[in-house]
Amino acid sequence: MPHRHLIAANWKMNGLKDHIPVARAIAEGSRDFHARVALFPPATLLPRLADALAGTQVILGGQDCHHADSGPFTGDISAAMLKDAGASMILLGHSERRHGHLEPCALVAKKAVAALKAGLEPIICIGETLDQRQQGLTRQVLTRQLTDSLPDDLNGARFHVSYEPVWAIGTGLIATDAQILEAFALIREFLNRRFRIQHEPQLLYGGSVNGSNAATLLALEGVSGALVGGASLKAETFLPIIAAAHTAPV
Ligand code: 13P
Repeated sequence: MPHRHLIAANWKMNGLKDHIPVARAIAEGSRDFHARVALFPPATLLPRLADALAGTQVILGGQDCHHADSGPFTGDISAAMLKDAGASMILLGHSERRHGHLEPCALVAKKAVAALKAGLEPIICIGETLDQRQQGLTRQVLTRQLTDSLPDDLNGARFHVSYEPVWAIGTGLIATDAQILEAFALIREFLNRRFRIQHEPQLLYGGSVNGSNAATLLALEGVSGALVGGASLKAETFLPIIAAAHTAPV
């Protein structure tokens, strides 16, 4: 098991340069806590945050990338560009990409290969919709997403998986302990079967995590991190989650 929780802020499409002090406050406020803290700002802020957070422990990451190294892809950003801008991690396969941009698992897998090639540590996101859960398809959907979104290139590499039930994102509705434990057991079993693990992947939960539910969540067996949307946009709401990770056993 990893020694420290990974508490990741997904700022999504939020944040102008006046948000830089928030990142500084997060870096400052989390300094004495026993957690790995990562910020995934919009790509436009990456170089500025790389400067603003230089010398701190905060990890920076991109929210998505194109699968090619470079070329005629107007509006897209390569993994190498994100790395060049200061990222060392990357989110891939977030449900807002899978559903909002109709990204299939095979494309997520190609992006993961590109991320590894550029030296970025991928966090690959999976999760079922409410319809799928209500139809009893959760295990099937998660297994298919894992099988088709995680390329063989991850063998022996550093990567992580985030379980984010689509119905729990931005709804205030967190999955139950039993639902999380079942999904994490499935993910752990899949990873151990499919990959030669050299660096223990951190398994994150995402979906309506906040300062009130983080301690219970992070104490669940096998949960080694959280991917936080709304509550990560302000230091006052994000720091309590980092503080909860400090006391929770990993
Ligand atoms: P919320 O924390 O706003 O539910 O978002 C979760 C998420 O999508 C993190 O990637």
